[in-house]
Order: sequence, then C-alpha cells, then structure tokens
Amino acid sequence: MGGNNGGEEEALQPLFETKVAKGKFAYRIYAITVLMGICLIWSVRWNVIHRCTFKDRLINRYGDKLPPVDIFVCTADPKIEPPTMVISTVLSVMSYNYPPDKLSVYLSDDGGSEFTFYALLEASRFSKHWIPFCKKFRVEPRSPAAYFAQNSIPEDTAAAKEWLTIKKLYEDMKCRIESAIEKGSISKDIRDQHKGFLEWNSEATRQDHQSIVQILIDGRNPDAVDDDGQQLPTLVYLAREKRPHFPHNFKAGSMNSLIRVSAAISNAPIILNVDCDMYSNNSDAIKEALCFFMDEERGHRISFVQYPQNYDNNTKNDIYSNVAGVLYKIEVPGMDGCDGAPYCGSGCFHRRESHCGVQFSRNYKGKLNNSLCNTMKDSSVHELEQGAKLLANCGYEKGTQWGKEMGLVYGCLSEDVITGLTIQCRGWKSVNYNPERNSFVGVGRVAPNTLNQALVQHERWCKGMFYIFLSKYCPFIYAHGKIKLGAQMGYCVYLLWAPNSLALLYYLIIPSICLLRGIPLFPEVSSLWFLPFAYVYAARNGCSIAEALACGDTLKAWWNSQRMWLFRRTTSYLFAFIDTVARQLGFSQLAFSITAKVVDDDVL
Ligand SMILES: *[C@@H]1O[C@H](CO)[C@@H](O)[C@H](O)[C@H]1NC(C)=O
Ligand SMILES: *[C@@H]1O[C@H](CO)[C@@H](O)[C@H](O)[C@H]1NC(C)=O
Repeated sequence: MGGNNGGEEEALQPLFETKVAKGKFAYRIYAITVLMGICLIWSVRWNVIHRCTFKDRLINRYGDKLPPVDIFVCTADPKIEPPTMVISTVLSVMSYNYPPDKLSVYLSDDGGSEFTFYALLEASRFSKHWIPFCKKFRVEPRSPAAYFAQNSIPEDTAAAKEWLTIKKLYEDMKCRIESAIEKGSISKDIRDQHKGFLEWNSEATRQDHQSIVQILIDGRNPDAVDDDGQQLPTLVYLAREKRPHFPHNFKAGSMNSLIRVSAAISNAPIILNVDCDMYSNNSDAIKEALCFFMDEERGHRISFVQYPQNYDNNTKNDIYSNVAGVLYKIEVPGMDGCDGAPYCGSGCFHRRESHCGVQFSRNYKGKLNNSLCNTMKDSSVHELEQGAKLLANCGYEKGTQWGKEMGLVYGCLSEDVITGLTIQCRGWKSVNYNPERNSFVGVGRVAPNTLNQALVQHERWCKGMFYIFLSKYCPFIYAHGKIKLGAQMGYCVYLLWAPNSLALLYYLIIPSICLLRGIPLFPEVSSLWFLPFAYVYAARNGCSIAEALACGDTLKAWWNSQRMWLFRRTTSYLFAFIDTVARQLGFSQLAFSITAKVVDDDVL
C-alpha cells in the first residue's frame, strides 16, 4: 500500500505539457522592427504636398512696404573654399531683385583669413559695376563665375561691349586675388587701402584671434551707390573671436554670432542663410520666400522656408548618387505634408524671432517690422563695429541660452536638423519650397566627386543623425505631443540610417549561408506562397524606378543610386553605427571633416 501513496501523487501530475517555443522574444523584436520599418517608409509618402507662390500679388499688395532681409554667407577654410568662389556667392546674393537699401549681406569667415577679407573688399568694389549690369540685362544666374561660365557674348553690339568690359573687370579682380594668395601675403599697397587689414597682426592665427567686424559697405550712407546711382546693399565682414581653449561649435557657432552681430547692425526680421559654395540661381527667390512669411492668413506661424539643394555639375548619370532627387521631390515634401519640413542647413529663409527662443502663441500676430531700429540709424560705422565685436567674442555666450534655446543648437554634427525640430516643437511651422527652377545651386565641385568623399560625407551625416536619435532630442520623446506623429516618423527615417546597415548586413549574410547549406528560405516557385514574395519584390523596385524617373533621373542613374545605396549601407552607415555606439559608450571623440571642394586632375 505504501507504494500506492507515491502513485497517487504521480496520478495528479498532467500527462502532457504545453511550452512556449524558444526564440519568441527574438521573433517579436524582429516583427516589431520590420513593422516600424514599413511604417517609416510609408509615413513620408503618405501625404506628399507641393507649394507654389504668387509673387505678383505680393508686390501689388506690399509694394514698397517689403521687410528688410539679412543674408548670411558662411565660409570655414580659405584653402578648401577659395575666396574667389566665396565672393561669387556674395555677389550673387547682393544682386537680388530686391530694394538694395533693404538688403544686408554678412560674410562669416571662420578661417579668419585676410585673403578672404581682401577678396570681399574687391567684391565690394566690383559690385558697383556688377549689380547695375545684372539689373540692366536681367542676368541669370547672378554669380559672375557661373554667369561667365554658362553664357557666351551677346549678339547685340552695344550689349557685347558692356559684357566684355564687365568680364574684363571680373577677370582682373580674380587675377589680383589669386596672385595675392599665390604670393602668400597681402602687399603694402593693398594694406594701405583699408583700415581693416590692421586687424591682422603678426600674432593673429586661424585658431587664435580677436573678433573682426568690418562694414565694407554701409547701406545707410548716401555715398554708397553703384554706377547707376542706386543705393548699394550693406556688406559686412565678420570673423568671430577664436581662442584655443574655447569650443567654437563649428557652423552653429558661426551662425549664432551672425544672428547677434546682424541684430546690432541691420536687425532685419527675415534672414537667409547660404553656404559659400552655393550661389543664387533665381534673383526673385527673396520675393517668393516672402509670399510664405507675409501671407495674411497663415504667414505669421511660419518660422522657416527651406529650398532644396542642387548641384550644377554632376557626373553623367550621377554615378555617386549626389542629386537625391527623390529625397527632395518626394520624401521631404511628404514630411512637409505632416508639418515637419526639416531645416537642412543652407538655402533657407528664417524668421529672426523664431531663433530667439520665442514660443509661438495663438495670440501672436507676426508683424515684420519695416524700419531699422532708431538707435542704429544714428550710430557711426565705428560705433556699430565696436558694438558688434563684443557680440562675436568667445565669452559672450557664457551663461546665456545661446546654443540651447536660442539660435542654432550646439553639440551635434547635424545641428541644423535639431534646430529645425526644436523650432517646430515651440509651435512654429515650416515650409519646404521646391520651385520648378532651382533657386540655390552648389558649385560644380561641391558635390563629392570621388567614391571616398561620397562615402565619408554620408558617414558624417549618418553619425550626426543617429546621434540625435539616441540623444534627448529623439523625435518620439522630445517632440512627443508637439508635432504630428507622421512628422516624428518622417524624421526617424533619416535618423535611423545608421542602424539600417544591420538589416542589410543580415540580408547579405543569411541568405548566402542558407544558399550554400541548401536551406530553403523562400517558397518554391510553383507554390502559391511565392506570389506575395514576388509581388513585394517587383512592386518595391517598380515603385522606386517610377519615382526616380518622375524626378527626372535616367534609368542608369537609378541603377547607380541602387549601387551607391549598397556601398553606403555596408560602409558609411555601418561605420557610423559602430562609431556612434562607441562614442555613446565613451570610446571615441567627435570629429568633423569638411569635404574638399577643389578637384585635382586625377579626380576629373
Ligand atoms: C538655373 O536656372 C535656370 C533658369 O533660369 C535653369 O534653366 C537652370 O537649370 C538652373 N540651374 C541649375 C543648375 O539648376
Ligand atoms: C564640370 O565637370 C567637367 C568634368 O566632369 C569639367 O570639365 C568642367 O570644367 C566642370 N565645370 C565646372 C563649371 O566646374
């Protein structure tokens, strides 16, 4: 009987058991990430929108009451960004079809180079001839370098004569600048022409110098007129203070100095910022952008208007896939459809107020004030320069909100994207404006033209963006409840480029191994289950080709973009992923590299 007791206990135990299979957790992660991936792809194309403007109505309605505009040009290195290229950009923005007394152009020279200053001085003189020439002959584009490269001499004899004179003036100027650079020093002759050269003494180096602010053309001065007697726009040279032990925060730091210095000099309510290698290809771009800011109904909510970036000299069929037509013509307009058009760092118009930490509120009625501040009207050029210098000093930002709530955000490679996001989170709207005609064009050599450069550039972008995702600015957290879910997801499409490489790596490795070991991954061709796989493959590639063709690419260019996609994901993105993770764990340092803009013969 004793034995039966044990038997009774045993009798209570079940005869079978159900267990959850292993790997459930891994599968769920897999399913969720794939779903997220699909959502992300789908989100940016869900509501693609396009904008158009009516500048004739703007002129009729506002005529001479248009607001002043400050234009910022940033340059960082006189070797990589030659001064002759920089001044072509400056001249193209000085000659916009816009009342010149309302325009002020600021060049921020982070290289602190006296050659760049000299080039700008030459440009200020050349502008007296160039601006009237542009207006008389409706020249396009208004960058002299691009204009003379693209256009040949006009048929009409009178016009041809003027054309030749201007061309000669331009080439002579270019020669003088280039020979000064070649000699490696500015001659005493030239130094005596402007007091500004006194700022460069023997101790000043690129990394260690005081603030330099020189107003080369004072637009308030009635003597500052061009050959036709028309007022010239204000032109200012700025090299902010650099000291070895002070972080300078790269381009964001430069932009913030520009915002402050311009506030002390012209303080226009609208700001345009361009890179020095990107000229204006549409002299009406300001008026078109103003159509958004000045719209009575919705204009007061708009913080920035972003134009797409284009290059003027791409390789045939775009072998390094630089053009990104689909990105600018479909994906970004899709983000715009969710009120999430991003700020891309250049070719962008801003409302000054929205950069000063101002929260948008419903009661806010945006007024773009028309007149300059009265105090400024009365100060002399010298007083303005001295006052502005203090604003560009290293110590100025200490203990302020600059780099956090005000101006561009510091501490990240993609400061532009974060800045755009924080502005949107303060309640402002943004616009992506993609007109038929390219308004801002990167100079031929700006597009990366070797495989290395193309990959390095993407690695840099990719690192900056993944870093945002891991930081407190992650759109799903930081922007939660502040911008639409579609816009949050739209941002993440780009912020998650780096981890994307892991998925591709998986697809490259696993199917190959399975093939070698004879493990079937997909259904047999004869099976009905093959259809969904075939459909997804064909539909996805068909859609991608259709989009590329619709954006003006050739079939070959589409193929090249697929090839670059593979290269990038297996190199740039993967390295960016590893590097960002290593940095998060404290193993490596932030580094910033500028892509070279001068091609040597090998590359060509
Ligand atoms: C510049 O604008 C003109 C129209 O004036 C256009 O034909 C040309 O394609 C534009 N240039 C670039 C590089 O997009
Ligand atoms: C454009 O590129 C070609 C070679 O690809 C070169 O010969 C030409 O000089 C470049 N043009 C400009 C304006 O840079």
